[in-house]
Amino acid sequence: MIREKFYITTPIYYVNASPHIGHSYTNIAADTLSRYMRQVLGDKNVWFLTGTDEHGQKIQKAADEAKLNPQEFVDKVVVQFKNLWKKLNISNNDFIRTTEKRHIHFLRQALTKLYINKDIYQAEYEGWYCTPCETFWTETQVSGQLCPDCKRPLEKISETNYFFKLKKHQAWLIKYIEDNPDFIRPENRRNEVLSFLKANELNDLCISRPKARLSWGIPLPFSPEHVTYVWFDALINYISAVGSFDKDGNYQSDWWPADLNLIGKDILRQHAVYWPIMLRALDIPPPRAVFAHGWWMIDENKMSKSRGNVVSPLEMVDKFGIDVYRYFLLRDVPFGMDGNFSEEAIIKRFNGDLANDLGNLVYRTLTMVEKYYQGNIPEVTVICGQQGQKIEEKIMALPQEVSQALSGPSDFNFSLALSSIWELINLANKYIEETKPWNLAKENKTVELKNFIGLLVKVIRVLAKMIAPFMPQTAQVISEQIGEAKIHKGKPLFPRIDLKPKS
Ligand code: MSP
Repeated sequence: MIREKFYITTPIYYVNASPHIGHSYTNIAADTLSRYMRQVLGDKNVWFLTGTDEHGQKIQKAADEAKLNPQEFVDKVVVQFKNLWKKLNISNNDFIRTTEKRHIHFLRQALTKLYINKDIYQAEYEGWYCTPCETFWTETQVSGQLCPDCKRPLEKISETNYFFKLKKHQAWLIKYIEDNPDFIRPENRRNEVLSFLKANELNDLCISRPKARLSWGIPLPFSPEHVTYVWFDALINYISAVGSFDKDGNYQSDWWPADLNLIGKDILRQHAVYWPIMLRALDIPPPRAVFAHGWWMIDENKMSKSRGNVVSPLEMVDKFGIDVYRYFLLRDVPFGMDGNFSEEAIIKRFNGDLANDLGNLVYRTLTMVEKYYQGNIPEVTVICGQQGQKIEEKIMALPQEVSQALSGPSDFNFSLALSSIWELINLANKYIEETKPWNLAKENKTVELKNFIGLLVKVIRVLAKMIAPFMPQTAQVISEQIGEAKIHKGKPLFPRIDLKPKS
């Protein structure tokens, strides 16, 4: 059942480096869903939040390297993210930075509430710590004094810290995930979390860092000598941006619970384990769904600065156009799976789906309206032939197919939604080939010709609406070309790209 409101979030991105295609993937997906839900529920019933994660060791280190103080540094890098989202037509309603007052104030209130309720306690910590990952490791998890995650050397530390009680909610969380099959998606990620929770006893979460070791963070309200652990700080953004605590400490929000916390698969543990427990301790309901998408790889490898294979979204957009880039990411790989990113793959989609199928259909139809009707759009009076009938049926079925594909139970399958839309495009192209309109014209079958072209125009109007969430600019151009009564023919939408390597 569809709720009347839709609140969607993306992870907030670390501002230690420029955004890459992985970051743009989550935001394009969230943008597409938001635009789609705005069509269904109306603009004012959708809220789309993105933002930046600006505290912690990683950022401090990057600021040091740039020889700037952390605040100056984050103020500079955040601009790159904001500009990229603008360029990619990301229609977020809000952008939250964890260095903003509204967030800091809210986080400190949340921490105070947990501290008063004894969900946070102080303890001596002695053990291994990975500074770059900001992660504590127990003796049993470590071998050779190296970080089990990043393999860099660990430090032995002994210090007073603050811990958030995770362990006591473990049984509740397992039951919650079991009882709510749509909470953690896709299914394989849900199973991953459940197996982890069943096989391991959770440790309470260390949520502080002594200022002496890390100063770039939000001070704990009950211990100014400590700053808040960056993940605890970051997760809170999803609620700090859309609500506040009333005088009795109850959370009030027009939007929460989120319908969807969209994330990448690497940050599943934080979102599927820490996050619901944090919310429960704060007496706030969990999000309706957490969905972890897959990763874009380059020649089967992870993208990383050290490998030197990081792809810039801006470069891709400059080369291929915004909507081509958006289409490729959403079409080429079912959401949830990993994909291999390459320019060849983009060009293949471009020449096939966009130039041959969509672009051609629009251009041929406009040409016929121009040639046979001097640009005046004819109206359909009856549907001609079997193929025309098939097209009408597809037009009727399509909204339901797309709605189904983009739903939670279908794992927000953008690729499937697009392939349904492309079925209509293919039917229409086939209709042109089979009908041979030039013969109708020659044989003076004026009624048939008028109905035939009228139906094609109708198809294109439907297409403009259906592709709008995925390719907003293209939809706009198509709508401008097919006016109310007259066409305004422009250039072909997607002139083919020559596959010969450019010199
Ligand atoms: N700051 C944390 C998130 C805090 S959310 C409360 C963080 N930031 S990140 O900038 O490192 O990554 C943000 C997102 O980008 C993650 O969801 C991650 O999965 C995604 N991606 C990073 N590289 C990616 C690919 N190569 N492909 C697809 N998405 C990837 O983690």
